[in-house]
Amino acid sequence: MALMEQADSSPSIIRVGVVMGGISSEREISLESGRNIFGKLPKGRYKPIPVFMDGRGGLWLIPLKHLMRNATADIEEDLDGEARRIPYEELKNEVDVVYIALHGKYGEDGCFQGLLELLGIPYVGSGVLASALGMNKYVARRLLSLEGIGVPKTVVVPRAEWTADPEGVVERMELNIGLPCVVKPTREGCSTAVTRVDAREEAVAAVEAAMQWDNEVLVEEFIAGMEVTCGVIGTDDPKALTPSETIPTADILSLEDKFLYGQGENKTPARLPPDVLEKVRETARKAYITLGLQVYARIDMFVKDDGEVVVLEPNSLPGMTPSTVLFHQAAESGISQSDLMDRIIQYSLEVHRKKKGPL
Ligand SMILES: Nc1ncnc2c1ncn2[C@@H]1O[C@H](COP(=O)(O)OP(=O)(O)O)[C@@H](O)[C@H]1O
Ligand SMILES: [Mg+2]
Repeated sequence: MALMEQADSSPSIIRVGVVMGGISSEREISLESGRNIFGKLPKGRYKPIPVFMDGRGGLWLIPLKHLMRNATADIEEDLDGEARRIPYEELKNEVDVVYIALHGKYGEDGCFQGLLELLGIPYVGSGVLASALGMNKYVARRLLSLEGIGVPKTVVVPRAEWTADPEGVVERMELNIGLPCVVKPTREGCSTAVTRVDAREEAVAAVEAAMQWDNEVLVEEFIAGMEVTCGVIGTDDPKALTPSETIPTADILSLEDKFLYGQGENKTPARLPPDVLEKVRETARKAYITLGLQVYARIDMFVKDDGEVVVLEPNSLPGMTPSTVLFHQAAESGISQSDLMDRIIQYSLEVHRKKKGPL
């Protein structure tokens, strides 16, 4: 009895490797997310350990002062000093769970999740398949529409087709989607190479720009209406948080609009009638379940002028920067930043305990 009491009053502290940086175009945001998670994980329960992923995918245990650098490039410059390169196989000796603070390619898309599965280390968020689906806007949309969830009208342009017949592709764009339309890489984030095309002459440059980032480009209808975003948390019976409205400063939301202080604007709750707000939450929850997302995610949507809700894209590892909209939504349910991170880790440990095979 005395022993049990002792165990209860001093629960072992969980070592959380907060992995940030990485290979994708979103590495600076990842650094911001990682820093914030590092700073706000509830003390006494968790021991955060900063882990930097360099531009080649190598992992480093970094000292605190590296964490305070302005940019990932500054951290990379200093990696030879007090930072310690940690081979993947040894990560398990240092951490009990990985908080993936990475965004975008190789971090959010199932690649890193697969590596952690092989290493036998629990990690936060969705598993391999849902992460990959979340990153591929085209495949995600096909699945969502099978479930009757609205998505933008979309045409996919593989590189081979573009190279062989760009004129034909532009014609197909005009015929099937019309103008204005939006061109983007299939698997990117942070509005990378997302272009609104208003005139036929702009199409080639837009597709070329998106092809810099992927071998497959999407051309989709431009949606007029209110852009909304809704966090969803949980495992078997997920809960949609309060939706926010995203007010862009330009037609296409830029990186600055989404993540930096004082740029762009979000309003939580979104200024919509209660029944429409509820429809947004239901759509977010349904999309989350359809794609097999776990633990937490943010679903970006539009409420069209006619009231139809369409899903623009899921984000399987949404930004965790201090000002990010997910925290505003959680706050509406009385959940603080630290509480949310706590829940995310606890849900994640639960799904890893219960899993049969990779998540
Ligand atoms: N079809 C569209 N209609 C209207 N606006 C769009 C459309 N697609 C993208 N946008 C705008 O561009 C932003 C970025 O596009 P998104 O598809 O979310 O790419 P990313 O994965 O880079 O965030 C959106 O948040 C939205 O403001
Ligand atoms: Mg987006």
